Amino acid sequence: MKFKLRNNNTSKVNLRVIPFLEDQLDLILIEKLPGLKLSSSIFSGKKDSTYLLEFEGNLNLLVGLGKNPEVEVIEKSFRRILGKQTDLIQTSIYLDFATIFEANQIETALVGFYLGSYSLDFFKKEKDRKKDFSKLSCLISTGLADSNSLISRAEKIAKAKIEAFRLVDLPPNVLTPAYLEEWATLLAKAEELKLTVFDSKKAKKKGLEAFLAVGRGSAKEPKFIILNYKHPDAKFHLGLVGKGVTFDTGGLNVKTQGMVHMKSDMGGAATVLAATQLIAALKLPIELTTIVPAVENAIDKDAYLPSEVIQSHAGLSIEVIDTDAEGRLILADGLSYLVKNFNPDQLIDFATLTGSSVGTFGYECGALFSNSETLSSNLQKAGLQCAEKVWPLPMWESYRREMDSEIADIKNYHGKPIAGAITAAKFLEAFIHSHPSWAHLDIAGVAYGDSEFSKTKSGTAFGVQLLLKFIENQL
Ligand code: BES
Ligand code: MG
Ligand code: ZN
Repeated sequence: MKFKLRNNNTSKVNLRVIPFLEDQLDLILIEKLPGLKLSSSIFSGKKDSTYLLEFEGNLNLLVGLGKNPEVEVIEKSFRRILGKQTDLIQTSIYLDFATIFEANQIETALVGFYLGSYSLDFFKKEKDRKKDFSKLSCLISTGLADSNSLISRAEKIAKAKIEAFRLVDLPPNVLTPAYLEEWATLLAKAEELKLTVFDSKKAKKKGLEAFLAVGRGSAKEPKFIILNYKHPDAKFHLGLVGKGVTFDTGGLNVKTQGMVHMKSDMGGAATVLAATQLIAALKLPIELTTIVPAVENAIDKDAYLPSEVIQSHAGLSIEVIDTDAEGRLILADGLSYLVKNFNPDQLIDFATLTGSSVGTFGYECGALFSNSETLSSNLQKAGLQCAEKVWPLPMWESYRREMDSEIADIKNYHGKPIAGAITAAKFLEAFIHSHPSWAHLDIAGVAYGDSEFSKTKSGTAFGVQLLLKFIENQL
């Protein structure tokens, strides 16, 4: 699909979409459908309402957004057009925004509209696939002076979100650590990024022992992926780490519940990779280093054992109490490697880390942990702006003591059914070499979930727009 500005009214379109605000109904009607009499009992612009009508020989879809629509409402209402109203779509569509709409509302609408083209049917026979939107021409008009840059920006945001969806939704026999390496290779080529990948032999030389321990039980080669993007006028250096467990069986502490959902355990990796794609595509003036330790947590004769003591890149020995607490092990090496080799100004990791964070916040927000008040409030603020909310939990020292081991420097699980998300965050903190500006986002409840757009749980791209807002708020 391609977005194009509509600068003359002569090109024929199959369907014209006109969004409405409930309290501006008449104003928008006069501007877009002059002369039309519309009873408010038929259409009043209420949120989640639509109305299809023929007017002067054209098919028009009126989309109600309610009063002061929130980001979610605009995004969803527009995503439904391709996502659900598939039958209405022919070869062209026209999104016609009245002058009352502001740039950020239009951006959200365009992103949502584009997301509607995403479908989970990767492995279906051609005849069973949903409509192919790749050739759809989508014309846009707005009351803004410069819509061209807005349109191309929205397209980039949507494409990055769709990549994040795909990475999570692809099954673990396809989406392996090697697949993520290949993905990063293609991105690095397209955007001229610097890419370094360590396989197990190289990772061993670099001392990434905790990362390697998790991968020992898998037939799939682990990959430690490092991408670097640097704008010539970089204002600051951001470091990202994303948990890339391409499937989490739990290891020898095998999961007895919910294993079928564990292809989503690379949701953090999907977030930071898609964000890297977006930041590079938008040429944001920063330096960015993104690390994805990619590994499968499987079971085999070589799998790491509960009670093993393993080493780590930071030099701390770790007692493995539970092989299902694997995410923190690979993140520990990712964070330590990033700080030691790149020392970014700010450091953020994204991970589907604990069931405990889901128990605490449900599917409403990500759990936020940070050692910096500024970083923490900047992330909270950015999250509220784009409907990807994160909320802080405490990092008191008493929680760190829970992770004390008798035999090693630290253990990976305190063995109690309490404060699981917090103790996991305290574990990670031990590996950041006292970096003063670090945040950990536990996105286990929000990276993957139910939505009106699919029958099964699917990827959400949580964190991609949060990172964009977070960065742009600082520029
Ligand atoms: N991948 C899981 C966390 C998870 C749970 C993600 C639910 C998405 C939905 C993680 O690797 C894990 O297994 N965590 C354990 C840790 C425990 C053994 C300390 C958990 O949360 O139960
Ligand atoms: Mg996946
Ligand atoms: Zn696990």
